[in-house]
Amino acid sequence: MSCRGARPTAPPDAGTFVAFAPDFAGFRQWQRTSLGRFSAGGHLEGPEQYAYINRPRAPSARTFQTGTIIVRTLERGPPATWQVFASVKRGGRYNARGNVGWEFFRLRIDPAGRVVIVARGLNPRTGLQDPYATGGDGAGCNTCHGSADARLYDGVLSPAVRPPDP
Ligand code: HEC
Repeated sequence: MSCRGARPTAPPDAGTFVAFAPDFAGFRQWQRTSLGRFSAGGHLEGPEQYAYINRPRAPSARTFQTGTIIVRTLERGPPATWQVFASVKRGGRYNARGNVGWEFFRLRIDPAGRVVIVARGLNPRTGLQDPYATGGDGAGCNTCHGSADARLYDGVLSPAVRPPDP
């Protein structure tokens, strides 16, 4: 079948990915990278910090594919008390003025081990007692992940996960 030529009827967000709770359900089985003890300045620090990724980037790729989910955990105590963040490559023009193409999530693990979405969007607010409750002092995930510097790395900041230097 030939698909060449213009496809004027395609909606503007064709080919994008919108994540729901089942998409995060198995994250603890994904490829896991230790982020070390210290955060590079963004998140709270702790001895057990990890990034889990469902769709690892090809080693030389400068961007992550639409549909990529990166979960960041601070694993202190039982899973139901962990801090769990996620960035999801939705694609298209989502978050066009920030970390382009990426949606932010606050997640938690319930006592039965299920992954629950607490908040999502450009600046997820949670009501939790932590500095990210208002998106990081009211600043929001885009303050760091959508900065000009971060965008050189497709908005991914961890040296262990981000694309190679330009
Ligand atoms: C004050 C700056 C800052 C804010 C605000 C911030 N982050 Fe981060 N984030 C970082 C830095 C720096 C890293 C890499 C080092 C690390 O993991 O500690 C990171 C790492 C991550 C990672 C692992 C993948 C990556 O990009 O390296 C995810 C996922 C993530 N953050 C999600 C979020 C979400 C969701 C929010 C908002 C609720 C948020 N972050 C707010 C600075 C920030």
